[in-house]
Amino acid sequence: MAVSLLSILFLGGIPVALSQNATVPSTTAVSASLTSSGSASFVTNVDLSVDDLWDLYVGPVATFSINTTVEPTPIPSSSLIPPPTLYYPPFPTGQQVPLQSKNESWKFPKDFWYGVAGAAYQIEGAVKAEGRGPSIWDVLTHRVVNYVTTNETGDIADNNYYQYKEDIARLAALGIKTYSFSLSWSRIQPFGSGAVNEQALKHYDDVIDTCLEYGVTPQVTLYHWDLPLVLQNTYGGWLGDQIADDFAAYAEIVFNRFASKVHYWFTVNEPIVFCGFYPLPENYFKKTSTPPKQQPYVCGHNVLLAHAKAYHIAKSVNSSLSVSFKTNGGYKIQRTDSSADAEAVQRAWDFQEGWFANPTFINGDYPSTLKTYLSTFLPDFTEEQKKSINGTSDIFAHDAYTSDFIMAPDSGIEACTSNSSHSLYPQCYNTTKLYANNYWAIGPAGDPGTPWLNKATDWVPAFLHYMQDTWKPKGGIAITEFGISEPYEALRKDLASILIDPIRSSYYRDYLEAILIAMSEGVNVVGTLAWSIYDNLEWSSGYSIKFGIQYVNMTTQERYFKASAFEYVNMFNVYQEK
Ligand SMILES: *[C@@H]1O[C@H](CO)[C@@H](O)[C@H](O)[C@H]1NC(C)=O
Ligand SMILES: *[C@@H]1O[C@H](CO)[C@@H](O)[C@H](O)[C@H]1NC(C)=O
Ligand SMILES: *[C@@H]1O[C@H](CO)[C@@H](O)[C@H](O)[C@H]1NC(C)=O
Ligand SMILES: *[C@@H]1O[C@H](CO)[C@@H](O)[C@H](O)[C@H]1NC(C)=O
Ligand SMILES: *[C@@H]1O[C@H](CO)[C@@H](O)[C@H](O)[C@H]1NC(C)=O
Ligand SMILES: *[C@@H]1O[C@H](CO)[C@@H](O)[C@H](O)[C@H]1NC(C)=O
Ligand SMILES: *[C@@H]1O[C@H](CO)[C@@H](O)[C@H](O)[C@H]1NC(C)=O
Ligand SMILES: *[C@@H]1O[C@H](CO)[C@@H](O)[C@H](O)[C@H]1NC(C)=O
Ligand SMILES: *[C@@H]1O[C@H](CO)[C@@H](O)[C@H](O)[C@H]1NC(C)=O
Repeated sequence: MAVSLLSILFLGGIPVALSQNATVPSTTAVSASLTSSGSASFVTNVDLSVDDLWDLYVGPVATFSINTTVEPTPIPSSSLIPPPTLYYPPFPTGQQVPLQSKNESWKFPKDFWYGVAGAAYQIEGAVKAEGRGPSIWDVLTHRVVNYVTTNETGDIADNNYYQYKEDIARLAALGIKTYSFSLSWSRIQPFGSGAVNEQALKHYDDVIDTCLEYGVTPQVTLYHWDLPLVLQNTYGGWLGDQIADDFAAYAEIVFNRFASKVHYWFTVNEPIVFCGFYPLPENYFKKTSTPPKQQPYVCGHNVLLAHAKAYHIAKSVNSSLSVSFKTNGGYKIQRTDSSADAEAVQRAWDFQEGWFANPTFINGDYPSTLKTYLSTFLPDFTEEQKKSINGTSDIFAHDAYTSDFIMAPDSGIEACTSNSSHSLYPQCYNTTKLYANNYWAIGPAGDPGTPWLNKATDWVPAFLHYMQDTWKPKGGIAITEFGISEPYEALRKDLASILIDPIRSSYYRDYLEAILIAMSEGVNVVGTLAWSIYDNLEWSSGYSIKFGIQYVNMTTQERYFKASAFEYVNMFNVYQEK
């Protein structure tokens, strides 16, 4: 049965329609209508429970020995002693005494929020516990050969599902004031729509209450890439326009339950990235007829509509909530002063930040360069849709890790925009980390596993000015993820060498100084979230890329503060008004 169903679903290329049966998730039957589109068409019905979904699409998962919610272990005071000073005056003075004096022109206002972020699939583990349904990431990590370079999964991750009390207590002990996390949609709705899993809501209730108990402000993201598998296999996930209503229904469940305790909300995380995952690997999910290059933009279109619905639902529940899109990008530096490079820079803004920020902040519609391309295969937004999308981000919540030099393609822009086979089509701009001398990089490199990421904090003030001037966010700008992969950190095997992370430490210090500079010049920055609370599953890089300000021993699930954790908090100790 399992085998024949699999062969129908994956090899036959037959459209699959799964619709949930709204009863208790762990025993719910799913009615699956399998309809062939060929001449020998047939219809059959198969009942699938949550367990069946796991068995059919994912297979066995790993579990950890701590598998019930645990009370926090006391945090040893020795682990709260800051590291020895990492900084020395610039070469060549050679003085061994730090000269870091406070700049009296800088300050973070009292209500500036600073915290750390994590995301459900990357940290929770306990993937099958308490009724969670599979997400596309359970399939990508378990079934798709070499999708994750290390063959690792999120089955256990940081075991946050059971150890969150300790995790929150540790943040409070360090002096971190805000914790931003995402909800697992397929925990709350194992089939992505319909049936609601009360155990999952109870769990997140307690995560939120634990934050409040420790004086840590919870911030919640509804969607951080872990799409319920059933939605992907029913209508192609974000490629299907049904997603807007399903996302809205999920958002409504969440807002109704948690709006009274959580003020800051993010609807979707980094749509450029998760829409860029389309096309998904072939043969593991429902087939789609949308051409591969168009898929990210069809996804983006549905994301905007879904986001707008969720925004308006939140506002109808409580109009005071802060609800925003969470986008990503970086500053775009024109590599030479040629007009072609200037045009390339504009294309880069349009295809990255502008893709989602123009519709939500400016006019409900795409930037013109993007629209020229999209209108060849997507319907224009109706006036009503534009109206519902415009103005639906209360703050500019941006994940801004780095910057890039931008230049025209070697062929020129026109030869690219007119040629859909061009390697840079449809964006038609090129990027590099090297200055025009082709010798020096923009800044110190992160880990080789993240070639997109160099420290480029010098450009942060210009970037913040650009965001404020271009998109004019009413509620200001928040840097909702920033951080760096300490080079070769995964190769370090002894604790003492892991815990001192100088590149990450200087990144946080210099980035926050850059924010202070921009703020002293009138840019309204309202908060920052360091990525990440601790080392976690870095998606297709597995655990080999480290972004944590805490180290986690994956054998024991013990947590340890790294030097960067102290550097981060220290900047606020020094500069935030009491
Ligand atoms: C849901 O499943 C149960 C048990 O299989 C069945 O009795 C019931 O009729 C189904 N409900 C719907 C609406 O399909
Ligand atoms: C929970 O972990 C214990 C060991 O600590 C193990 O004996 C038990 O089987 C686990 N339970 C589940 C449901 O994984
Ligand atoms: C991952 O698994 C595939 C298939 O079993 C194997 O070919 C590959 O070598 C594995 N990669 C690593 C890093 O273990
Ligand atoms: C609405 O949200 C605001 C801001 O988060 C909060 O102060 C207020 O208590 C909320 N109102 C209700 C009825 O929950
Ligand atoms: C979009 O909303 C902004 C305010 O949020 C407003 O200034 C602008 O006129 C609106 N644009 C359109 C096309 O409705
Ligand atoms: C993009 O830039 C790199 C150099 O940074 C160059 O090697 C490559 O040929 C360029 N690609 C195109 C398509 O212009
Ligand atoms: C379009 O781009 C492809 C890939 O770079 C190239 O082989 C082809 O010659 C280009 N076609 C034209 C008309 O320039
Ligand atoms: C992680 O824990 C294991 C088991 O106690 C231990 O052998 C290993 O040395 C620890 N790793 C580090 C880096 O401390
Ligand atoms: C202090 O901050 C101001 C405003 O950002 C800046 O102009 C000045 O150079 C800074 N002074 C030092 C010593 O860094």
